[in-house]
Formats: sequence, C-alpha cells, structure tokens
Amino acid sequence: MTSFRPAANLFRLNRHDANSAGVALSSRGLITEAQATLRGGSEEGGACLQFHEVSKTFATRDGPVHALDAISFESQAGEFLSILGPSGCGKSTVMLLAAGLIAPSRGRVTVDKRAITKPRTDIGIVFQSPVLLEWRTAIANVKLQAEARKMDAPTADIRARELLHAVGLKGFEQKYPNELSGGMRQRVSICRALMHQPEYLLMDEPFSALDSLTRDQLVIDLQALWLLRKMSVLFITHNISEAVFLSDRVVVMSPPPGRIDRIFNIDLPRPRRLAMRAAPEFLEYSGQIMDLFLARGVLRESSQSVAQ
Ligand SMILES: Nc1ncnc2c1ncn2[C@@H]1O[C@H](COP(=O)(O)OP(=O)(O)OP(=O)(O)O)[C@@H](O)[C@H]1O
Ligand SMILES: [Mg+2]
Repeated sequence: MTSFRPAANLFRLNRHDANSAGVALSSRGLITEAQATLRGGSEEGGACLQFHEVSKTFATRDGPVHALDAISFESQAGEFLSILGPSGCGKSTVMLLAAGLIAPSRGRVTVDKRAITKPRTDIGIVFQSPVLLEWRTAIANVKLQAEARKMDAPTADIRARELLHAVGLKGFEQKYPNELSGGMRQRVSICRALMHQPEYLLMDEPFSALDSLTRDQLVIDLQALWLLRKMSVLFITHNISEAVFLSDRVVVMSPPPGRIDRIFNIDLPRPRRLAMRAAPEFLEYSGQIMDLFLARGVLRESSQSVAQ
C-alpha cells in the first residue's frame, strides 16, 4: 500500500506540476523562496472584490435576523484576506455574498466594480466539510469541476493528478472518500476547487474540523499554493493564529450583528514558517487581536459560572 506523504513541498514542484497549477517558473524550472516571496502580497493592486455598506437580514419564523450591518471592505487582486470573528458574526454570510449565492438586503457587492447578480463561476470554494461524493474516487471527485465545465477529458485527468500529487496524495487517486482521513478529504476538496484554475478562492473555515498537526500542515501547503498561484483568497476563520499566519490583512468582525471592527495589516515576511508563531512580531499581532476580542467580550479571562 502506498504510504501517505503528508507534506508535499510545493516549492519543489517540477515544471509540469507547476504549469498545471498556472504557475510561471524561473528558467531553472524551480521557484526559489525569494521569488515566491516576491509573488506574495498584493503587488498587482486594483480592487478585486468590494463590499459597499452591505447589510443582510434573513427572514426567519422568529422574525428578522440581522446577520450583517453595513459592512464595507475590499480585497485586492492577489491578496490573502482573512475574515476573523466569533461564531454567528456573519462570516459565512460574507462568503455566500462574495460567491453570489445570496443577495445583500442593502448595499452592493462588486467584482472589478461590477455588481454580482448571479452565482459566480470564476471562483473556487472550499467549505468546512469537504462534501465529497462517496461513490466517486478521489480523482473522480476532483474531476467533477472539469465535467461540469466540459473541459477536455485527457487534460483534466492530467491536471487532477498533478493537483493531487502537489498536495501529497500521489497513490491515493483511486481511493474512495471513506478510505481517506479527514485531512486527505479536505486536500481533495481543495484540489477540486483549484481544478479550473480560478483567480479567486473562497474558503469557509476549511481546516476547523482537522486535528492541529494536520491543520498546521494544510496551512503551510495553502500558503505555498497561494505563493505559487498568485490567486486572491478570502479565508474565513475564527482562529487568530491561522489568520495572522496566512494573511496580508485580517478583517476582524464584531459580535452579532456583524460589523467590521478593525482591519489589521500583517507585515511579516513570506514564506512564513510555523516557528514564526513564537516570534515577537507575530505575537504582537495575535495579542492585539486577542485584546480586541477581550475588549468586546468575545473572550473573557474568567468563566462567569466559575467566578460566581
Ligand atoms: N439562511 C439563514 N436563515 C436564517 N438565518 C441565518 C441564515 N444564515 C445565517 N443566519 C443567521 O445569520 C447570523 C450569521 O450567520 P453566519 O453563518 O454567517 O455566522 P458565522 O460567523 O459564519 O458563524 P460560525 O462561526 O458559527 O460559522 C446567525 O445569527 C445565523 O443564525
Ligand atoms: Mg460560518
């Protein structure tokens, strides 16, 4: 049986691998970390996705629920932007609006200044749960995108294999979802989202169901993919460290009804290493966000029930 190789070093992709992922390589056929560093950030500029005073109210049996209250932010092309906030503050609602899967009650959501009026097909989406089809193998799940988009089948097969290999799933192509671990299943769903080479990737708490080691590895792999692909990412999370580690900017939301509290620019060099989480600069950012959550009552130093 093939052994699982959890960490594919994506900086060592060969030319074929990298081209399949839409990556321009240096003349040596390798991307150096310095080059990857240059690719990070939002050097291309230009607003990609914009929320203008967006509110969202859901009608429920118990009356209206105000999920979002006049939020405004923009994500630049090529930027890694995280939305961080407590449960129920409207993070998933932001993602559904960005994907065009729901419409705002007030305000406008635009892509390159054009209002989103229907579900977007130019994006990749990764949800908290991998949502794989149990009767299809790993590679057949990845190729779903290709079939829906009527891509050339042999090309799609090559691309699906290369993506699976790039995330350490070589040898697992023909496994069914119930034969894969949670981390492997989520890797398959990330490959599926990248199959059509989207310029924009939306991720809603993609690693929250995983154990912390697998989570760390996927965070590293996602950073490497992003540095190579130069796509824009909107990453939803409630994990402070994950948001600081991955992001160019972190949009911190307040408790419901969701508003934007603060936006942090994360000025740390890339590629970021896991050990950097213990560095003073890193702890300064995560400390500031934690202080904000303490000030807003999202976190409390002592449990009320214990204190009584
Ligand atoms: N389809 C819906 N119908 C009614 N209410 C909804 C709907 N979707 C979301 N809500 C409500 O909107 C608010 C924000 O929900 P949302 O799922 O966006 O929060 P979240 O920040 O993603 O939370 P979590 O971290 O728990 O995933 C919540 O009060 C939720 O109950
Ligand atoms: Mg959510």
